[in-house]
Amino acid sequence: MEKLQGIKGGFLVALNGAKTPAELEAVRIRFLGRKSELTMILRSLKDLPLEERRNVGPRAQALRKEMEALLSNRLTSQESPAASQSQVDLSAPARKAERGHLHPLTLVDEEVRKIFSAMNFSVVEGPEIETEYYNFDALNIPADHPARDAWDTFWLKPANQKKLLRTHTSPVQIRYMEENNPPFQIIVPGRAFRYEATDASHEANFHQIEGLMVGKNVSLANFKFVVEEFFKRFFKNQKIQFRYRPSYFPFVEPGLEVDIKLGGKWLEIMGAGMVHPRVFEYAHYNPRDSQGFAFGMGIDRLAMIKYKIPDVRMFFDGDLRLIKQF
Ligand code: DAH
Repeated sequence: MEKLQGIKGGFLVALNGAKTPAELEAVRIRFLGRKSELTMILRSLKDLPLEERRNVGPRAQALRKEMEALLSNRLTSQESPAASQSQVDLSAPARKAERGHLHPLTLVDEEVRKIFSAMNFSVVEGPEIETEYYNFDALNIPADHPARDAWDTFWLKPANQKKLLRTHTSPVQIRYMEENNPPFQIIVPGRAFRYEATDASHEANFHQIEGLMVGKNVSLANFKFVVEEFFKRFFKNQKIQFRYRPSYFPFVEPGLEVDIKLGGKWLEIMGAGMVHPRVFEYAHYNPRDSQGFAFGMGIDRLAMIKYKIPDVRMFFDGDLRLIKQF
């Protein structure tokens, strides 16, 4: 039947010319839709004499099947990656590469190292996995001492090795003194770990800076100068007041806590004191020949104050909305 031949010819030309999914849909409607010529023919079959119906019917059905198959072939090949790649606009400008930058804790860590280095302190590091001896005993914290309760400890297996994640950076005091003779002044930046529930001001993993200065006559007056100089440089031109309160840490005598007043608010900022004679003995120093001060403070807390970050957990949750502000 010539009419069917004509329909097929027109369909092939239109299919060839169609480039987009929308154009293919238009071809489908025109040749296979309800009002298409082919549909009309199929619908009018029932009015034809039996003979003609037997002749035209199967051919019209076959043509419809063939056209549907050709159309769906074209649609799937359009969706394939090969086809979509051919639509990449090679002339479009490249996306700008994002530059990395330092985490606020790293910024504070670097700043602290810089200020103390300028005051002639050396930067020393120590292991995060410690022994019970360095973390507690050599710091004058014996096994049955109630002060041990203050350091909730991650003990490592096997238990008989008495290894732990250091609960503070103070053990590096002992490690350094075992290898070096006074006079010296060091800071020890590093991670510390405590087995405790996290909240806005506590993390199981945090960062400290330990300080230790030992010589023949190193005194609390020297300590006072060093900390005040440090905080003035760290908080640039802000007005700061200092307060020293007596406190207790087993590895110092006397022990104290330092508060600073910044923007009208008093903040507890570090523990400190004169190194306990027993600590010198553990490090094989003669306490009659040496004296000095030690201090420890949290870097995370320092960063929270400096950048006005309300929750310590924000440093570690990887939310780019915080990180990108630095
Ligand atoms: N190690 C103490 C802590 O983590 C902080 C500290 C207090 C360090 C007094 C010191 C010090 O060196 O003298 O809570």
